[in-house]
Amino acid sequence: MSKDSTESLASPFLQTCDIPVQQLKIKPFTLVIFGGTGDLSKRKLLPTLFSIFRAGELPKEFAILGIARSKMTDEQYRDLIKKALQESGEEPLEESTWTDFSHHLFYLSADSGKDESFPSLYKKMDKLTGQIARDCRNVIYYLALSPRMAPVVIEGLKKNDLCRGAFDTKIIVEKPFGRDRRSAVELNRILTDAFEESQIYRIDHYLGKDTVQNIMFFRFSNNIFEQLWNRHYIDSVQITVAEALGIENRGAYYEQAGAIRDMVQNHILQLIGMIAMEPPVGFEADYIRDEKLKVFLAFQPFSEGDIDQFTVRGQYGPGKVNGKDVQGYREEEGVAPDSNTSTFFAGRFHIANWRWAGVPFYIRTGKRLAKRITEIAIQFKQPPLRLFGRSCDTLDPNILLLTIQPEEKICLRFGVKYPHSENQIHAVNMVFSYQETFKMRYYNPYERLLIDCLKGDLTLFVREDAIEAMWHIVDPIVARWESTPPDHFPNYEAWTWGPEEANLLLERDGRRWITT
Ligand code: BG6
Repeated sequence: MSKDSTESLASPFLQTCDIPVQQLKIKPFTLVIFGGTGDLSKRKLLPTLFSIFRAGELPKEFAILGIARSKMTDEQYRDLIKKALQESGEEPLEESTWTDFSHHLFYLSADSGKDESFPSLYKKMDKLTGQIARDCRNVIYYLALSPRMAPVVIEGLKKNDLCRGAFDTKIIVEKPFGRDRRSAVELNRILTDAFEESQIYRIDHYLGKDTVQNIMFFRFSNNIFEQLWNRHYIDSVQITVAEALGIENRGAYYEQAGAIRDMVQNHILQLIGMIAMEPPVGFEADYIRDEKLKVFLAFQPFSEGDIDQFTVRGQYGPGKVNGKDVQGYREEEGVAPDSNTSTFFAGRFHIANWRWAGVPFYIRTGKRLAKRITEIAIQFKQPPLRLFGRSCDTLDPNILLLTIQPEEKICLRFGVKYPHSENQIHAVNMVFSYQETFKMRYYNPYERLLIDCLKGDLTLFVREDAIEAMWHIVDPIVARWESTPPDHFPNYEAWTWGPEEANLLLERDGRRWITT
């Protein structure tokens, strides 16, 4: 390329956002895991930390302190974690990497429900931050225990002065974050009494998915789409979060949660936030979180009649696929034989703001659906005139499909002339695949979120006000469903697309569900 043509690429009209993105680094740290021997720690947290360590992303000085009630030495804890890594990993554990990693693992036997445990925690943290983390008093608490214990631990930390002052602390809180707005407000109150909001990392693992983050990059770096991203050009938005799996031994939890609390209140609303938000002022955490909050606040409230008309609930019954039988929800372990918990949700929402007024957002999610797929379909409006005659009555709309999983891709569907026909239009797909284009190691969502927290980047964590606003959207639906128990459960067969009413919800509006 000649010098002149290179220069012409640097547009004199392109301005830069003057708010610089913070360049954050992981400082030496001590990670304290409450529930250090529990399922979450063994199956997710420690394997994730190990994987980040193996990838060389952790500083030399760090300590991981597991806390649980069982009596154990550091050595015994290391053995326990080694076994867990061997069981959870796809590849054999590399001995020398494990040995290096294991030197960073420590254990404290303590009952986090008891006040007397906290002074010994202080002593251990004091020692670790001094010896291992070279006096870097950077401490992260991870609440990897039952939600019931979260307030107890937070209050214990507060009472013993372990939240601010002696250490520079952060706290990671897992979902479920409350079970309705009231309990979420209470948990937020306890948390913000003990910590500043800037120290609190509420995890929603969907935000750690690269393709979910890409929604924002795609929207705000491609002018061609952003121009069309509003009620003038978009007919409707659909979000499908379908799982082929059932509840996988989590009967007791799921009976209390159901599809709305488990998936809609958090993951799906976060996806809508990304799709519908206005461009933020800059790429700082709070600018982005401000914009998402505005979306949640603009959800058009549902009357009871709207809930009956625009939401669909379902529960899977037994099914069969490839000759294999699978049991229904009510037969799963830990589930009541007459349970009315919904394993499926579909609904039509509206966002009452300038950009989205009148554009329906359809969402559906469920367990034991036909396949595992998470996808967002943006359906564009039809052209103003059917220029090619009546044969084009069935014109396929333009669709932009953002597939989050299992493959990560973006597909644009548009019409072309069918070869040799006079006026027939054929829909074709232009596809971009992440994996094929960028052949590299991907972070899993937990890796990404842990790294961000260690760096102190709050962008992908949920703020207090958003949590409460999201509950505000779903609470009336849960209340209405609870006060009008269904008499038709189970109402869909395992490994299908859910109850027929979910199709009717769209058909009534002259639309249908779109998936790849
Ligand atoms: C969790 C839910 O938050 O998300 C599970 O509790 C669900 O029920 C899971 O299976 C889905 O996550 P993913 O990343 O597999 O889509």
